[in-house]
Amino acid sequence: MKARIPAFPLRALALPVLALAAGLACSDRGDPVSPVGGDPDPLPTVSYSGDIQPIWNGNCAPCHGENGGLSLSEAGSRANLVGVVSAGYAPALRVAAGDPESSVLYRKLIGDEEFGDRMPQGGALTEAEIAVVRAWIEEGARDN
Ligand code: HEC
Repeated sequence: MKARIPAFPLRALALPVLALAAGLACSDRGDPVSPVGGDPDPLPTVSYSGDIQPIWNGNCAPCHGENGGLSLSEAGSRANLVGVVSAGYAPALRVAAGDPESSVLYRKLIGDEEFGDRMPQGGALTEAEIAVVRAWIEEGARDN
């Protein structure tokens, strides 16, 4: 059985996204000597419910509510993203776990025109928010 990485105390705090990103950067810089042959990733795990869903709630809900083609509202939002074929850009996946560059969601957040309009339509997330979403996908787009 694979041991689960324990949540960092930082994760329990309801910090704004910017503060979280600053914390990530600090923990990166402040990390002691890397363990030889160990996991090179020193960053705390991104939480879907604690870090990602609040971004959706604040930026995507008006257009991606319960009745839309892609619901990003609390209930089941992750299940509508991870491993789900894009409605507009098949056969690409909305979110390909572990691979942001292959994820329609991520490509739309960075404004890659290959997948239509940048999201949120008419605006953009902050660099820090986009970085958190990218980290979540890289970590396997977990349901945590
Ligand atoms: C002003 C309305 C609006 C907002 C706000 C908005 N979207 Fe969208 N979104 C759309 C429309 C319209 C489409 C369909 C056209 C397209 O694919 O570009 C879409 C499509 C998408 C798709 C592609 C779905 C698929 O299956 O092809 C994703 C992923 C997406 N949005 C994510 C987001 C995220 C994440 C946010 C918030 C950060 C967001 N959107 C905010 C209107 C919006």
